[in-house]
Amino acid sequence: MLDVVEALRREMEAERIATEDEVETFRIKYLGQKSGSITNLFKKIREVAPEDRRAFGQQLNALKQATEARLDESRDILRRAAAEAETQTIDLTLPGRRPLTGSVHPLTQTRDDIVRIFERYGFSVADGPEIEDDWHNFTALNFPPDHPARDMQDTLFVEASEGGEGGVLLRTHTSPVQIRVMKDQAPPIRVLAPGRVYRNETISYKSYCLFHQVEGLYVDEGVTFADLKYLLHAFAKAFFGEDVRMRFRPSFFPFTEPSAEVDIWWSDENLPGGGRWLEILGCGMVDPNVLKAVDIDPEKYTGYAFGMGVERPAMLRYGIDDIRVFYENDIRFLEQF
Ligand code: DAH
Repeated sequence: MLDVVEALRREMEAERIATEDEVETFRIKYLGQKSGSITNLFKKIREVAPEDRRAFGQQLNALKQATEARLDESRDILRRAAAEAETQTIDLTLPGRRPLTGSVHPLTQTRDDIVRIFERYGFSVADGPEIEDDWHNFTALNFPPDHPARDMQDTLFVEASEGGEGGVLLRTHTSPVQIRVMKDQAPPIRVLAPGRVYRNETISYKSYCLFHQVEGLYVDEGVTFADLKYLLHAFAKAFFGEDVRMRFRPSFFPFTEPSAEVDIWWSDENLPGGGRWLEILGCGMVDPNVLKAVDIDPEKYTGYAFGMGVERPAMLRYGIDDIRVFYENDIRFLEQF
């Protein structure tokens, strides 16, 4: 008789219960009042030999409990599934979920806009390393050995040099790309070099240890300062608007002669005078010493060069008053572009 109980347990355990109906079928089959298999076995207790009765009774009770537990468990599973299905019903009247898309960083947008304007005038993009040597960053650009810009104050050195020249550094401007291009190509040369530059500056709302520049270079026979003025005026109109006011102010850079800085008039009613002049770039005619350093004949060729920051125009355009927000990657800032 113990075998019969054991066989019934195995049968009960193998039973599949997946619906409310199956729960009820299972209950009736094993525990039904009239003819459930377990109920029937209870009725047969008297037929069991007296010495086996105790063991049989215990075995049968255990099976009954296991069967009831199975019933409870199945009901529970079904109840939970039903509740879940209820909460997961699709509500077709809900608004759709907007997919999260990234956006182009405001500095990249500004850089691309600058590059696109110059591309209309036949400039193509050139590239150079951010880790530079002293020769490309300074010497070939006609910086004298004791020039203050080589000072530790401004330059972030990777490998310090002995006695002012030599050494490896993070480029302090995009001008070394001029040198690389002129070493590589023969005139006519017309390139733009957008990129990242580094300076050992005290970090504040207006300066950061890295920023971006776009360098321009045009070398050919008969290039004049008038060509440079024309181009930069066309750029300013395209970038800041047709009615932009700009001025060229004499300046100095070791690698250009003559040199100038370009300011644009920024209207602001809150300022005395209704606005102020803001410097946007440096430029000039490529110094003959620079052409000589890259083996281009300064008697035959002339050229102009210019270099502008990307952060300043981006800040003007978007009304940003702290340069540091560009580098913090705060999603609340970036989402706005
Ligand atoms: N390299 C200069 C700077 O970082 C900017 C500059 C000025 C670039 C005059 C030029 C140039 O090409 O002709 O301040």
